[in-house]
Amino acid sequence: MIVGIMGAMPEEVEPIVKRLDNVKRHEVADNIYYTALYGSLDLVIAYSKIGKVFSALTASTMIEKFGAGKMLFSGVAGAINPQLSIGDLIAATKLCQHDLDITAFGHPYGYVPEGKVFIEADPKLLEIASLVAAKEGIKLKRGVVATGDQFVADEQRKKWIGETFGADALEMEGASVAVVCDALRVPFFILRAISDAADMEAGFDFDTFLESSAKKSADFIFAILDELDKA
Ligand code: ADE
Repeated sequence: MIVGIMGAMPEEVEPIVKRLDNVKRHEVADNIYYTALYGSLDLVIAYSKIGKVFSALTASTMIEKFGAGKMLFSGVAGAINPQLSIGDLIAATKLCQHDLDITAFGHPYGYVPEGKVFIEADPKLLEIASLVAAKEGIKLKRGVVATGDQFVADEQRKKWIGETFGADALEMEGASVAVVCDALRVPFFILRAISDAADMEAGFDFDTFLESSAKKSADFIFAILDELDKA
């Protein structure tokens, strides 16, 4: 099985590539993709660059050019739910685009015709993640993740996203990866470790905790790979 592993930023993907041997480098569509073997699994790994467009391109490339049949995303997020603290892990049950707005035509936020507001992550991958978390004694929250092409550092905006979509965390790539995987029928799992609370201190906290939180997410991805390898 070929498993795609994505992040948005180098800090999110380096801790994954670092743990692999005999990594091959490929240049496709203005980006770098790494391939390697992990047990019985063939991996393709890349950071997409930040935002919905770049992440959709990377997810599509992994599936169409590299043959990825499962997609795992590893990275950081801003917390909306006050139960989430810096370093906590959240697995997206479903994802939405908080900045998609054609409400002028009577549609709900996050909706365009022939699309859907929420896209659900693969229940089997979520189940594997819960098993791994229980086995390793790691706290893993499940929740709604809202994506948009904005770094949110504003209480009002965060509150609006939380109330409008019932979202627990926000970031800038998950829902676009979800749209691509859903359309191409590839099971996906979006994991995020909290780097900030999307508030006034978010910029500072993000810079402070990006590396440590990204590493926590990457380590958990390896625990999932171990389970997939066994299956
Ligand atoms: N990723 C991590 N923190 C974020 C924030 N506050 N806004 C958007 N994406 C993020």
